[in-house]
Amino acid sequence: MTRLLVEEAALGYQDQVVCPEVSVAIPDGRFTVIVGPNACGKSTLLKSLTRLLAPSRGNVLLDGQALHSMPTKQVARQIGLLPQGPVAPDGIRVVDLVTRGRYPHQSLFTPWSPEDERAVAEAMDATGVRQLSGRLVDELSGGQRQRVWMAVALAQQTPILLLDEPTTYLDLSHQIELLELCLGLNRSTGHTLVAVLHDLNQAARYADHIIAMHGGTVVQTGTPAEVITEALVADVFGLDARVIPDPESGSPLVVPRWRH
Ligand SMILES: Nc1ncnc2c1ncn2[C@@H]1O[C@H](COP(=O)(O)OP(=O)(O)OP(=O)(O)O)[C@@H](O)[C@H]1O
Ligand SMILES: [Mg+2]
Repeated sequence: MTRLLVEEAALGYQDQVVCPEVSVAIPDGRFTVIVGPNACGKSTLLKSLTRLLAPSRGNVLLDGQALHSMPTKQVARQIGLLPQGPVAPDGIRVVDLVTRGRYPHQSLFTPWSPEDERAVAEAMDATGVRQLSGRLVDELSGGQRQRVWMAVALAQQTPILLLDEPTTYLDLSHQIELLELCLGLNRSTGHTLVAVLHDLNQAARYADHIIAMHGGTVVQTGTPAEVITEALVADVFGLDARVIPDPESGSPLVVPRWRH
């Protein structure tokens, strides 16, 4: 059984329908990447996989149960989210923000445990933000702050992790480090990962499964080789490009045609 399923769901905000009818299955224990142009509904789809956005029609199911009828904490122990453009509370320090990631695991009787301590420390080490721990989040660089948010997501230690543009603001070497970290989590502990990425070449290298969206609909799903083709890049992004094998990984490499 697939744990996370979207079935004929209509997604949107107030009166605006963004995705009129979307159906996707998130493969368990795999690394799924959502690609598509700006405003096509990627973040909307990702939010529908949490309790942040309920479908106005259809269903989003976790283990066969409607996600939006489940208790918040129960969902939060299973599904972690790194949202796009998160905003930290004013004046909060890095370690306190990462600590908030442990909220789903706390109860009235055991507010803080050595396990929470360990999860926070591990998340900060994995993202290389331990030395920033006493700093104010507001005073960090864009890339440092993005890595802190990744630490918040990791500290939740959920078996399903949703990441909306996790590589934003990161320099190339930190982008690769973050994607390697995701792959490591997936391969070593079987985490189910879903990330939105704009870099098609990184998507093709790291994803097991790709969901391509356009204008609020899922236009194609499959392996990178199945999805990242010249025809799809032309249809979905309106970009005239060659797709050749990546000399390092053999995955599809998108090379826009030279126009001059
Ligand atoms: N909170 C909101 N209220 C109203 N409309 C929204 C809201 N969030 C997004 N939208 C609209 O929904 C549409 C899809 O937005 P979404 O954020 O899903 O796009 P996206 O594919 O993630 O784009 P990007 O690559 O720019 O992040 C857009 O037209 C956007 O303006
Ligand atoms: Mg988005």
